[in-house]
Amino acid sequence: MRVLSGIQPSGKLHVGNYFGAMRQYVALQEKGNECFFFIANYHAMTSVSDGQTLRDYTAEIARGYLAVGIDPQRVNFFRQSDVPEVCEFAWILSCLTPMGLLQRCTSYKDKLDQGLAPNHGLFYYPVLQAADILIYGSHLVPVGQDQKQHLEVTRDLAIKFNNTYGEILTVPEPYILSGAAIVPGVDGRKMSKSYDNTLELFESAKSLKKKIMKIVTDSTPVEEAKNPDTCTVFALLKLVASEDEIAEWDQRYRAGGMGYGDAKKRLAELMEELLAPYRQRYEDLEHDQDYVEDVLREGGKKARAVACEMMEKVRAATGIVVSGS
Ligand code: TYM
Repeated sequence: MRVLSGIQPSGKLHVGNYFGAMRQYVALQEKGNECFFFIANYHAMTSVSDGQTLRDYTAEIARGYLAVGIDPQRVNFFRQSDVPEVCEFAWILSCLTPMGLLQRCTSYKDKLDQGLAPNHGLFYYPVLQAADILIYGSHLVPVGQDQKQHLEVTRDLAIKFNNTYGEILTVPEPYILSGAAIVPGVDGRKMSKSYDNTLELFESAKSLKKKIMKIVTDSTPVEEAKNPDTCTVFALLKLVASEDEIAEWDQRYRAGGMGYGDAKKRLAELMEELLAPYRQRYEDLEHDQDYVEDVLREGGKKARAVACEMMEKVRAATGIVVSGS
């Protein structure tokens, strides 16, 4: 099975990225799939317009992937921009993309609501994402729920391309784990860099605990019964605690006599147990930038070879001639 996914270097990695996407990347790698994981630096240009910032975020995301266990010996791990053919392919796909399909994309509307300028890159974003996925003939795309609509656009474009030019592209499936499809942030909304409500994956234990202790809860008094199903602390506990412990907390919430502070303290402990080794590896990699750069360069070469094979078929079918290719 060919698996592909990407993350934008548009800010610090957070716990939502980890549970919604990265944890699945590692699991799918361990199952022996042929994996393509990349840093979507062209996509990040829709929100980052300073060159040095983009370079820094790109380096951080690279370390982040490696720190959580992506093994470059077993997967194709690369920077999107090391395969520039993806931009050519995106153009070809865009010539088959109905305007209405992009106008219906909620991510575009959300970004405008957050105050981003309505530039063409933001609008065209799902087409570039489709190119990312289709150029490697990917079967499965592990993502969080927020990417589901982009996967639908990708599938539509693959089908449209195949109907127009012949059966060349694979129609991919999203891989979304229901338990972590939308990880909440400290204010209860979806955890997101743009809402400033994240628990960062590599922040210090002290800062992480401070943020967890400030998670917004309702004002039910300690002695009264509480509803775990509407509580952000419980939603996060479910991601890190064992089945038995989750059942125990569920009972304690419903029984009353428990303060949210107890649940928050336990959440901070469990989060720290999970994240401490990743943080250590992330910090170690900071002193090994050359290694990270070598890994990306090699990964980029392998990924590009696969993409170029697909582009030969795409160019032949569409009548695009590139001298010497
Ligand atoms: P990005 O960088 O916003 O997020 C990376 C991954 O993290 C997931 N995620 C979440 N999952 C659950 N709960 C959350 N609160 C949460 N926040 C983020 C996202 O769903 C995503 O899987 N468009 C993509 C990048 C991309 C891509 C691709 C992905 C570009 N090309 C091709 C897959 C395939 C994005 O913005 O991810």
